[in-house]
Amino acid sequence: MTWKKVCTAGDIAENTIAEYDVDGAKIAVVRSGEDVFAYPLRCPHMEEPLSTGFCDGETVTCSFHLWQWDMRTGESTGEAEVDLLKYPVKVEDGDLYVDMTNVLSYE
Ligand code: FES
Repeated sequence: MTWKKVCTAGDIAENTIAEYDVDGAKIAVVRSGEDVFAYPLRCPHMEEPLSTGFCDGETVTCSFHLWQWDMRTGESTGEAEVDLLKYPVKVEDGDLYVDMTNVLSYE
């Protein structure tokens, strides 16, 4: 695993989808209480940025065509035809780390 520090976990606002650039790789991050989840920035439908979407603490919604996924599992909860890839995360000493081993890159 290739853990990279992303931010201070407490800096991630709840009910938003934050965008981070980690060594040139763009990821989307959401938080619900102490739980934090990370995904590729680009929606698996048409690669629009998830950071313009919505998170209500249970569901991640892409703003473009409203595909939705379970925030915790990445599984489709609606019309999404594919699940949302999740990246491994950990919080140590209040800092959020994401395993960048299999992070997708975009041109
Ligand atoms: S681009 Fe996200 S649902 Fe279509």
